[in-house]
Amino acid sequence: MIAQQACSFTAVGNKLGLDITACDIAYYHSGEDLKNKGLQDIEHTMENMEKAKINYKWEYFNDIEALRTHSLSALHDCSNDMKKSSERYIPVTLPSLPFMNSEFDLLLSAHFLFMYADRLEYQFHIETLKELLRVTKEEIRIFPLVDLEGKRYEHLDKIKSYLTDNGCTVEEVKVPYEFQTNANSMLKIKKVSN
Ligand SMILES: C[S@@+](CC[C@H](N)C(=O)[O-])C[C@H]1O[C@@H](n2cnc3c(N)ncnc32)[C@H](O)[C@@H]1O
Repeated sequence: MIAQQACSFTAVGNKLGLDITACDIAYYHSGEDLKNKGLQDIEHTMENMEKAKINYKWEYFNDIEALRTHSLSALHDCSNDMKKSSERYIPVTLPSLPFMNSEFDLLLSAHFLFMYADRLEYQFHIETLKELLRVTKEEIRIFPLVDLEGKRYEHLDKIKSYLTDNGCTVEEVKVPYEFQTNANSMLKIKKVSN
């Protein structure tokens, strides 16, 4: 079983036969509200992208139009899956999760921890990681390892030491996907002892 935060990964994965639960603070809102907010966010992002496009690599998405098409399709998949499988979309407020100890084999967190270093404090990261470790049986993957400006998260080495001191193995792994420049690696955390 896999846990992960809001996007179309859950919809696509479940269609492929995986057993995925998504959680996000956004799921306190109705699916309809989220769809409308998603449409507004996509338009807003596209309007600003012309100015910001120098900070991104245009390989996975060829241009802004391809990004818009992909984003709309992901929003569509996510909204439909939320209607069909609402029980898989759990509202949560980190650093706390309403799941049992070791409920998930693998936990994925994208574009949340490390990225918002300007507003989420180090201690919030630690509390959240403790909770992610509690609900995970084997492995956690966090992507990316840079903040919104593309700089490596300033406390990453301290976080890695905290995790190894608490019985985990930690590895920084390069990934083939890079859209935001420098956002091209993940933290792979394995639980080796409890
Ligand atoms: C940049 S989005 C990333 C969404 C998705 N994981 C992705 O990679 O496309 C950050 C997400 O964090 C969620 N979020 C913010 N604060 C949160 C909290 N305290 N607990 C749970 N989710 C939170 C937001 O609702 C938002 O969906």
